[in-house]
Amino acid sequence: MSTSDPAAANRALIAELAELALRVAREAADLVRERRAEPVEVALTKSSPVDVVTEADQASERLLAWLLKAARPDDGFLGEEGADVAGTSGVRWIVDPIDGTVNFLYGIAQYAVSVAAELDGEVVAGAVVNPASGLEFCAALGGGATRNDEPIRVRDTVPIDQRLVLTGFSYEARIRALQGQAVAQLLPKVRDLRRFGSAALDLCTVACGQADAYVEEGGHLWDYAAAGLVLREAGGRTRMLPGVGGTDAMVAAPAEGFEEFLALVGEVGFLADHR
Ligand code: IPD
Repeated sequence: MSTSDPAAANRALIAELAELALRVAREAADLVRERRAEPVEVALTKSSPVDVVTEADQASERLLAWLLKAARPDDGFLGEEGADVAGTSGVRWIVDPIDGTVNFLYGIAQYAVSVAAELDGEVVAGAVVNPASGLEFCAALGGGATRNDEPIRVRDTVPIDQRLVLTGFSYEARIRALQGQAVAQLLPKVRDLRRFGSAALDLCTVACGQADAYVEEGGHLWDYAAAGLVLREAGGRTRMLPGVGGTDAMVAAPAEGFEEFLALVGEVGFLADHR
């Protein structure tokens, strides 16, 4: 690689990070698949008694941290299950070792390993791998998004009352009650709603044109880092806004119909500003 061309060096670094994200996400997905074949043990609970962490979440995060440290020792690392290591290279990895842990616990096949690389604070590469279905979503900044190596694209925009919307619920009962009210207002105004149980896979579902939009309050950086890039690279937009329950809400949709969807979720009560 020529050091005299910073743009080319940057592109090469992003390509390297994207390749590494997919490689380690696949390895962690293999581990998660093996763990699902054994009895699944809850290791602890977090924000509420229904917000569980399994031993497989912890093992997957340890594996991801180890693999990434071996490949790129100077990078930072942030994991859902507690790892937070500062780096010196300008690259930080943001991982969710199992997004959709409750589905994993119950044996519902909608969960994923999510690995994103941030460069100087911007997500530039991401991989989301579902160990149960074998679906692999990848993206590199400026390089488009793929599902199992095939380019993906969001759906064409349809009138708002014909849009299929994905959502999810917080682990906090107080926020859930508010989300329930907003959902009740939204339902008559759209085609229908789906609640699959993995925010990362929800964003990838919009990215590959199998749904029209997504809204949820209470997710975290690790839920959205990789999948948000996948969606943006597939022609979508994402925005984090203050939610009605006082935590961040993610609104995501194809770029063309985004503003109309944002106005609707505000109007029906998902967002703080519109109360
Ligand atoms: C959760 C899932 C769920 C969403 C929650 C997330 P976790 O992640 O993505 O669908 O509703 O907001 O926290 O806890 O399974 O990693």
